[in-house]
Amino acid sequence: MSYSIELELQKFPKTVVLKDGKKATLRPLQKTDEKDFHQLFLGIPEPERMFIKHRVTDIKVIRDWCQNIDYGRNLPLVALIGGKIVGDATLHQQLGGWKRHIGRVSVLVHPEFRGRGLARALIAEILELARGEGLEKVEAEFIGEQKAAVHMFAMLGFSQLLSLENYVKDMQAITHDYILMGLELKTDEEYAGVGG
Ligand SMILES: CC(C)(COP(=O)(O)OP(=O)(O)OC[C@H]1O[C@@H](n2cnc3c(N)ncnc32)[C@H](O)[C@@H]1OP(=O)(O)O)[C@@H](O)C(=O)NCCC(=O)NCCS
Repeated sequence: MSYSIELELQKFPKTVVLKDGKKATLRPLQKTDEKDFHQLFLGIPEPERMFIKHRVTDIKVIRDWCQNIDYGRNLPLVALIGGKIVGDATLHQQLGGWKRHIGRVSVLVHPEFRGRGLARALIAEILELARGEGLEKVEAEFIGEQKAAVHMFAMLGFSQLLSLENYVKDMQAITHDYILMGLELKTDEEYAGVGG
């Protein structure tokens, strides 16, 4: 793990207060989260699960993620309420290549816990981590049906970079439109007004 991530992660676990007054704990995914993390995906309705790139109902997929945690590549930040994982936002990075300055964010909140500001809180943390990592941009990918998510990312400052008709296939090999959204990150120096 790079020194910068190690430093950044020191602020977790972190408690956030949601719109309904309930508290959620945010922290990076741990090796021991396998069962709980799997439960989060099992709680996502089948039609929505089709939007997820990986076969997340398969415990083997989740086990592999938990056993091979590499925060420099994939940094899953989970949200817990009452000890249960109810949401996740992950920062994906490519270490090298022409997208090395671009992070990708994905987010998922259990249906019972939506509309309380959990995704907003998770993404805000992810953006801060991305800035801390020195990334310059963050992108997010969607299929056309993910209207709520596209709307939410737009409200968080992301803009649509491109949209391709019938470009991707879900787990059942049904094609969908593909939408790429992006956000330019301001560096800490720019915030401080030193960046010129
Ligand atoms: C998209 C998703 C993550 C939102 O989670 P959430 O915790 O309910 O979102 P929040 O409560 O933090 O909402 C953040 C903002 O988005 C808006 N928003 C959330 N869901 C919305 C919806 N269904 N329709 C319109 N706006 C919506 C809210 O109004 C809120 O704005 P506000 O804070 O100004 O009120 C959740 O619905 C989900 O997991 N969807 C399935 C997975 C997905 O599509 N992920 C994105 C792919 S990367």
